[in-house]
Formats: sequence, C-alpha cells, structure tokens
Amino acid sequence: MLCIPITADTNEKALQDVQETSQLADVIEIRLDYIANPDLEMLLRHRPKPIIATCRPTREGGRFDGPEEVRIKLLEQAVELGAEFVDIEHDSIQQLHKRGKAKVIISYHNFKETPANLKEIYARLSDSTANIVKIVTTANDITDNLKVFRLLEEVGARHAVPLHGNGKPLIAFCMGELGLISRILAPKYGSYLTFGSLDVGKESAPGQLTAREMLGVYHVDKINQETALYGLIGNPVGHSLGPYIHNAAFRELGINAVYLPFKVENLREFVQGFKGLKVQGYSVTIPHKEAIVPLLDGLDPLAREIGAVNTVVNKAGNLMGYNTDSTAALRELEEGLGDLRNKKVLLIGAGGAARAIAFGLKKKGADVTLINRTEDRARRLAQELGCHYRRFEDVTKIDGEVLINTTSVGMYPKTDVSPVPPEALRPGMWVFDIVYNPLQTCLLREAEERGCRTLDGLRMFLYQAAQQFELWTGRPAPLELMERVIREKLKTK
Ligand code: ATR
Repeated sequence: MLCIPITADTNEKALQDVQETSQLADVIEIRLDYIANPDLEMLLRHRPKPIIATCRPTREGGRFDGPEEVRIKLLEQAVELGAEFVDIEHDSIQQLHKRGKAKVIISYHNFKETPANLKEIYARLSDSTANIVKIVTTANDITDNLKVFRLLEEVGARHAVPLHGNGKPLIAFCMGELGLISRILAPKYGSYLTFGSLDVGKESAPGQLTAREMLGVYHVDKINQETALYGLIGNPVGHSLGPYIHNAAFRELGINAVYLPFKVENLREFVQGFKGLKVQGYSVTIPHKEAIVPLLDGLDPLAREIGAVNTVVNKAGNLMGYNTDSTAALRELEEGLGDLRNKKVLLIGAGGAARAIAFGLKKKGADVTLINRTEDRARRLAQELGCHYRRFEDVTKIDGEVLINTTSVGMYPKTDVSPVPPEALRPGMWVFDIVYNPLQTCLLREAEERGCRTLDGLRMFLYQAAQQFELWTGRPAPLELMERVIREKLKTK
C-alpha cells in the first residue's frame, strides 16, 4: 500500500493536499507536527482514504518541539475522531492511553545508519501493545538496503497477520538517496506500507520519491513477491533515463519486472551482496564498465574482446557480461555516415565507452586516433586496439573527418562545457556525442555553429538499451515506445 504524507503547514493547505492525494494514495499520513494549530476535526471529516495521525517530535526527526502532553493529547484526539491509524514513537507508547479502534504503529527512526541489530529492534518493538511496527533507517551504502529486505523476509512481514501476537506487520525501508530502492521494493518484501510524496518539495523524509513517480515510473502498485529485478549500476545514476524506458517497456509487454537505479560506490561488495536478491539483469554505466569485468562469471566473446561490459544477464545464477554499446554506436554512425572504412576518426576519451566504440570502428576499418585527459590511458588503449593516440593539447591540430565524444563531459547537470575547444571542430566534419542528456550538448551546439554535421546520443542510447532488453527478456524491444519515452523525458527535464 502506498501512503502519502501531508506536510502542509496550515489546515487549509493540508485539507487541499488531503483531497489531492485521493487518486494516488491507499493511506494518507497527516503530519500534525507540520501544522501550527491542527484542526483535527476538519481534517478528518473530509478524509477520502484511511488516515495515519502522526505528530513527530524533533528528537525523532519531526518538527514538534512543544510539551509531550500536548503532543500525546493531539494523537488521542485523532483516535477519538476515528483516525484509522496512529503513529507513536517507540519511547512514547506507554503514554498513549486512548486508542479507540485505531491501529497503533510503533515507530523507530535512525537518521545516522542502518544498524546490524534490526531483528532485535523489531523484537523489542513487536513486544509492545502496538499493532504494527515501523523501522526506518538511513542507508549509507546501497548494501544497507539488504539488511532491511532480510529483516522483512525473516519476520515474514508478508504473512504476518495484523493484530495477532508477535508476528506483527512491519513497515521497513531506508531513507536517503541510497535507500530509494527499498522504498520501491517495499511491497516485494512485504512491507505493510511504503511512502511517496505528493509532489517535489513535499517530502516528509530524505529520499522520498513522489507518489506519481512511484506509480507512474516504477509501478509500485503492481510490485509483488514474484516481480523480477533489473537495474542500472553506476555512479551517479540520478540523471539516467534507464528506469523510464525499461520500466515502460516491461509494462508494455506485460512483464512482471522492475528496473531500479543502483548507485554503487563499492562495486565488489555490491555484486556479491546483491547475488542473494537474484537480480536478473543489469545495465552498467560510468564508472563501472571495465571494473565489473573481473567480478562476473563469464563474458560474451564481443565483451571479452572489448574488455568492457554495459549489460549483465543472470543465467541460472551466473552473471554473464555483454557489450551492446559497440553495436549501438556503430549502427548510429553507419546510419549517418554510411561506410566507415578508412574514415579518419578522432575519439575523445579512453574509458569503457571509448573502448567499445574504438573497437567497433577498428573492425569496420576506420583510422582511429585516441585523445584523453589522462594521456597514459589513451596510450595504453591505443596500443591494445592498434590505433593512434595524441596528446590532448594537439586536439586542434588533428585533421579528422569524424570526432566522437565518449566522455561524460557536457552531461546533465554540467551542461555548459565541451570536451574540446571549438577550434577542433572544422566545417564539414561529422561530430557524434554519445551524451544523450541533454540531446543538444555544448559540443554539438558549437559543432553546428561551425558548420559540422552532428549525431546526438539518442539513437545509440536507444539501440544499446533495446538490445539489452532483448538479451534479458528474449523478446523484441518496443523501440518506438522507448524512443517516445526518451524524447518526452528529455523535453521535461
Ligand atoms: P566509462 O566506462 O563509462 O567510459 P570511465 O571509464 O570512467 O567511464 O571513463 C570516462 C572517460 O571520460 C575517461 O576517458 C575520462 O578521462 P580520464 O581517463 O582522464 O579520467 C573522461 N572524462 C571524465 N570526466 C572528464 C573531464 N572532466 N574532462 C575530460 N575527460 C573526462
């Protein structure tokens, strides 16, 4: 069930927000600590959905800093007025005497970390007179989410029967950007509720997505125990369009799966830790395309030759690496330029994407020169692939017919920079930027101004994602839908 918290600071605004949630929420949480003088009677009289009354004190991350008796009284008043749920902090439950028919949620918040003893905390909270337990912690690493999933599974949250003994229903997830996946997957592991905000800026806790995104992008209302997991490994991942296109494609084909953004700092720990979740497939992006290679169980011949992976498929527990960047980039280049044989290509960058594209170009017979901020990396890659390399300072002196940017320079949010000075761009030259967010990068704008022909990152992104989707599902990707989603998203950014 999806709960939308109301964080307005006046009764009138709160009432308006309560009405607005009615299409999206299963449950509405009224945060009484945000409202100066809450008019409970009015707020509860007009409720379109069951209500949780919460009045969080500052010590538990809320805004109420008045006397404890006043706070408890407010909650008891909500109970008397028929609120379906009342949330009370673990250290205050003794003081709540009036309960009426309300189900009591006993809550624990940890704004510092996700402690190792979650099961102990659950046992302690469960051993109270409450009906439902809520444990919310902070994720400092993506693997912290695993502790919460384990807890939900261990306590059998999915099967716990409300109002019966110790196996009390559990609401559990992690806060913060790194906890986002636990909010989306809460229904898969049996959390009684998950939370989404009414709008951007109306969040009641760090890392809360909007309810519209929870439902419209991640289809949280359709997630269940059987939902298969896919996701993007990268850092950062917040800007990625992957979740929009892959989730839309799963929906279109009626596949019960969800695609998540995994912001990964420690790749080895992540790959090991997440094996237990049986993630069916990954996309891999900056900066992990090469680093993931030794952590996999096997490689497709093309990925092995390239030495970089942007797609992982879980084949009966074995993580197999593929590369769809190379084919996708070459397809876009050939659609624009035709035959690539003997074309003089100047390629900026020496990372995983550069490796895949340079490899593909060499195979097509192009004459490739690498240029990179870190010259040594360009030299090593050039030696490996049998192409040329030059110092970065020489970028304006090279006579290329095609210039390709494979770095992340110019990508959202730092969109006003180009990887090369404008003098490197000559009239008639083809300029291809693999950055797709934004579609018109600073590099492409300057290239057009100087009379170059340009290719943006859309088709490469689309083709690599489509091939990836086909490797995961064995079904043709809905290419038109995927393109529409990308264009729509880029327009609204
Ligand atoms: P990926 O595997 O996705 O290609 P990567 O291996 O981290 O990611 O490579 C990123 C590429 O972008 C590298 O060529 C990097 O240059 P360095 O080798 O010097 O690090 C390049 N890059 C990233 N940020 C850059 C910047 N601000 N200026 C110039 N080049 C940059």
